[in-house]
Amino acid sequence: MKPWGTPGSTVAARVMLLGSGELGKEVLIALQRLGVETIAVDRYPGAPGHQVAHRAHTIDMTDPQALRDLVLAERPDLVVPEIEAIATSALEELERDGVVRVVPTARATRLTMDREGIRRLAAETLGLPTSPYRFCDSEAELRVAIDGDPSTGARGIGYPCVVKPVMSSSGKGQSRLDTPDDITRAWEHAMAGGRVAGGRVIVEGFVDFDYEITLLTVRALEADGTTGTHFCEPVGHRQVGGDYVESWQPQPMSPVALGRAQQIAQAVTGDLGGWGVFGVELFVRGDDVWFSEVSPRPHDTGMVTMTTQRQSEFDLHARAILGLPVDTTLLSPGASAVVYGGVDADAVVFEGVAEALRVPHSDLRLFGKPTSGVRRRMGVALVHDDDVEAARAQAALVASLVSVRPA
Ligand SMILES: Nc1ncnc2c1ncn2[C@@H]1O[C@H](COP(=O)(O)OP(=O)(O)OP(=O)(O)O)[C@@H](O)[C@H]1O
Ligand SMILES: [Mg+2]
Repeated sequence: MKPWGTPGSTVAARVMLLGSGELGKEVLIALQRLGVETIAVDRYPGAPGHQVAHRAHTIDMTDPQALRDLVLAERPDLVVPEIEAIATSALEELERDGVVRVVPTARATRLTMDREGIRRLAAETLGLPTSPYRFCDSEAELRVAIDGDPSTGARGIGYPCVVKPVMSSSGKGQSRLDTPDDITRAWEHAMAGGRVAGGRVIVEGFVDFDYEITLLTVRALEADGTTGTHFCEPVGHRQVGGDYVESWQPQPMSPVALGRAQQIAQAVTGDLGGWGVFGVELFVRGDDVWFSEVSPRPHDTGMVTMTTQRQSEFDLHARAILGLPVDTTLLSPGASAVVYGGVDADAVVFEGVAEALRVPHSDLRLFGKPTSGVRRRMGVALVHDDDVEAARAQAALVASLVSVRPA
């Protein structure tokens, strides 16, 4: 990035966030602190990041023409995808034509928006350990992939297994199958939960892990002009229905498992390339580690770093994408717990905020979402404590003290 100056002037560094939810909002705040001119884009007006950027736009980011027109009108130096549902073909063209730099790269954005792209890269190209998997385009194909094919003697993935639409996130359309009776329901659930029409799913063998982690991995420019890879302490997390409910850092790991996790993260982020934070999702049992998936951007479970690290994952992302040095030092163990809406409402008020913040070493982020849904993430509780288990209990307490009521 060339030297930059005053936002709004000809010497400004301009960064456009595609997706302006709670994660995008924090990236925007980190960029604002570095004097960057920021442009927030989302599919609905008043999104969290819209509220903290120099300019806000509302467009359908899956529409390649709309995306292209906006980038050409705003002429940002960097485009930072914060969600997966984006017309990545338009980004690849704009990057190829030298119009913008896409973070970390347009190719990484394309490969990771689709479970097939990233899984084939990790397992088949890089040879990383993953769950066994197949891709299927119909219920009949799914049945053969799981149960095998008696006519050819081909073996299937078996049970338990997990079925997911190839285009989905936050656990949408995902189910666990324990018997052949579950196949029809899982197929229908996947068809209803995918991001785009079209019936492709992945079926994965179930990994009976001891715990799962997000290994936040930062690729950043070093003083000697090379790109270095930096690891945060592993973030442990618990998912319910494919959505994260609590996370903590550090997750204790054996040295062998940690070494393997870092090797996997180095390999996959090295192939995806570019600069920025990656959330590498891994399953761990004993010393064995499986790659699950990767976000080429800050990760929801990494919100805990806002209370545990000298530079949160959002600070790290802002610095790395600008070509600035990063510091992944952990200051204190800590935990995060999600505050759900718990109610469908067009406008909300938060109650219990003062009580929540009276819990020692606590903090809270309220995302400022205009409307609430029962399972919509409205905020996050943060607690740091020398003992990570105590931090988890306290973060859950803080989250439980906040309640969301219709306004
Ligand atoms: N093969 C598997 N074996 C065991 N558990 C699994 C498997 N696949 C997924 N899970 C569980 O489901 C969770 C969500 O799966 P995954 O990360 O693939 O979906 P996602 O929709 O991309 O979720 P998110 O967007 O929240 O990361 C995982 O974090 C893990 O807890
Ligand atoms: Mg995931």
